[in-house]
Formats: sequence, structure tokens, C-alpha cells
Amino acid sequence: MRKIIVAIDGHSACGKSTTARAAAKILGYYYVDTGAMYRAVTVYFLEKHVALTNPKEISRALTDIKVTFKINPAGVTETYLNGLNVEKKIRKMEVSQNVSQISAIREVRDAMVDAQRKLGKSRGVVMDGRDIGSVVFPDAELKIFLTADLLVRAIRRQKELLDKDELVDLDTVIANLRQRDEYDSTRKESPLIKAKGAIEIDTTHITIDEQVDEVIRLAMGRMINKN
Ligand code: DC
Repeated sequence: MRKIIVAIDGHSACGKSTTARAAAKILGYYYVDTGAMYRAVTVYFLEKHVALTNPKEISRALTDIKVTFKINPAGVTETYLNGLNVEKKIRKMEVSQNVSQISAIREVRDAMVDAQRKLGKSRGVVMDGRDIGSVVFPDAELKIFLTADLLVRAIRRQKELLDKDELVDLDTVIANLRQRDEYDSTRKESPLIKAKGAIEIDTTHITIDEQVDEVIRLAMGRMINKN
């Protein structure tokens, strides 16, 4: 069977990462969480107080940043920033509140898209984000666009934060998701759109297992279909 690229895009907290991670495991593919890459850049920019209005400073900072992934003993992919595990840090609310602004900067996008294309150049990857099917790999054999109701997404995200010992009230989570949806969809650089040829899956009323099954079914179809 040929190796393909599975591109999964959609709004914040639709279950993209959970679905992509599980699908990659079943397919024996590499999983790339591109949101984690933008989050790691955000951590660096916040910690180093990079001036977001200074393109030179931004470009210089980007040359100092290396984002990598490692699989931990439990089989879960974790994000590293310049060799340090930042998996917990990147999921913090403070990072969520700044990541949309930082990921909208052209220099940041150019650097990340370049890194993402390198990670997927041999195919055999499941990559999730906002612009994977539209910009990073417009030739991906399978493009998925996930959607879900805002309230359902907020409840899922609040639980995720709680699992990481961060208690955030539902209104704050809803406001953050709404703001990021708006920002990600209306920004000038690579806005979130449903890519040409993408298959939409609404996850509001289906379980993660059902989401994953559907992605695997579609991926298998693409892997045996040579066209
Ligand atoms: O998937 P996530 O919520 O972890 O993504 C964090 C932010 O990164 C999101 O608000 C928008 C940005 N992002 C992006 O602009 N392009 C991507 N391919 C992935 C994420």
C-alpha cells in the first residue's frame, strides 16, 4: 500500500489532535501536531519577551528555535523546545491566549510551514492544524475538516485542562475558543478554511472512536486507490 499524507484541519478543540494521534498509531504513521509547534514558539516568544512588532527580532528569534517531538514511554508524542520538554507548558491558558496572535505573524508561519513540509516529505504522516490541507500539503491524499458545536468543544477543552490540573471556568474557555476561531479564520496569513477536496466531519454527536474509525476508513480507501 502506498504511503499517504492525512491532513486534519478544523476549529480549536474539535478533537483534531486526539483523532490524528489515534489514527497515526493505527496506520503506523508519524503524528505531527502543528498547533503544538505554534504553541512552543509562543512559549519562547513570551519567555524571551520578543517584540511582536519588530520583524527583525522575530526572524532572529525564529533561528534560535527548534521544535521537535519525542514519544514518551507511554507511547504519547510530546513537544520539545530546544531540547526541553514543554508539553505541559504549551497547553497552559496563558499560551492559548497568545498563540493566535503569534501564529498570525508571517515570519512565524513561513518557518513553521517549512519545518512541517520537511517532516512530511516522505509521506506516511498524519498532521493536524488549521492550514495543512490548504497551504502545507495541498496535495495531501486525504483532507479532513473537523467541526463541532462551540459548547461541546468548550466542555471537552475544560476537561482537558482539568486533567492537567488547571481549573478554568466554562465562560473563560468559551470566550477563548470563540476569540481564537474568529482570529484564526479571519487573519491575513493562511486563514482557517475548509481546503478544496476536504471531507467535513461534524464531531458534536459522535465519539472519538467513531471519528477515528471514519478517518481510518477514508485513509484505507486512499492508500489502495492509486489515483
Ligand atoms: O490546535 P491548537 O489549538 O493547539 O493550535 C493553537 C493555535 O495555533 C491556534 O489557535 C492557531 C494556530 N495554528 C495555526 O495557525 N496553524 C496551524 N497549522 C496549527 C495551529
